[in-house]
Amino acid sequence: MKVLVVYDHPRRSSFCGAVLDSLTEGLEAAGHEVEIADLHREGFDPRMLVEDEPIWRDRTQVYSDEIRAQQARVDRNQGLILLFPVWWWSFPAMTKGWVDRIWNQGWANGWARLKQEKAMLVGIAADDAESFARRGYDKSMETQLLSGILQYCGIENSSMHLLHDSLTSPEHRDELLARARKLGQEF
Ligand SMILES: Cc1cc2nc3c(=O)[nH]c(=O)nc-3n(C[C@H](O)[C@H](O)[C@H](O)COP(=O)(O)O)c2cc1C
Repeated sequence: MKVLVVYDHPRRSSFCGAVLDSLTEGLEAAGHEVEIADLHREGFDPRMLVEDEPIWRDRTQVYSDEIRAQQARVDRNQGLILLFPVWWWSFPAMTKGWVDRIWNQGWANGWARLKQEKAMLVGIAADDAESFARRGYDKSMETQLLSGILQYCGIENSSMHLLHDSLTSPEHRDELLARARKLGQEF
């Protein structure tokens, strides 16, 4: 299938960027066609603009050209992956703003839902899985991001994967890259 990967990191050369490369390799090895939305390089502005604020219950509202182009990019893909570093136990403001502005009433919520067959959240986290579990951060991310955004907006077949201990050894990073490749291959 055609898969849109939304990449959110200030640097393309970051470890998250290496995860993007491995994930893409895996997706392509499985025969998927990958499109990348590199939000920082594209200069995406995550701030909601007045013209894109939903007018509640107004089915005639037309969003800005920018938002309609972004929606068309999502629409031409049957799969969707959001790839981000975990910042404060969530995704960064850039991805949040991308959702706020684009997943709008009449397209992803309200009287319409997303039509993608499958979606995945991939977060890169410095902290280990045990600390996440001990404080419930993994569950809270699942509730808020997976259930509250992806599934709420209609993509039932969606999952969340955290790649932990991202700042440890180069050997561990290689393991995380292998895992990212596998996630792509099995998508
Ligand atoms: C603003 C900020 C907030 C962060 N918050 C978290 C966090 O809540 N949990 C965590 O495990 N790591 C956190 N980190 C660490 C990032 O997850 C880490 O930088 C990333 O996984 C490493 O990838 P990179 O080198 O590609 O940035 C944070 C980093 C920054 C810059």
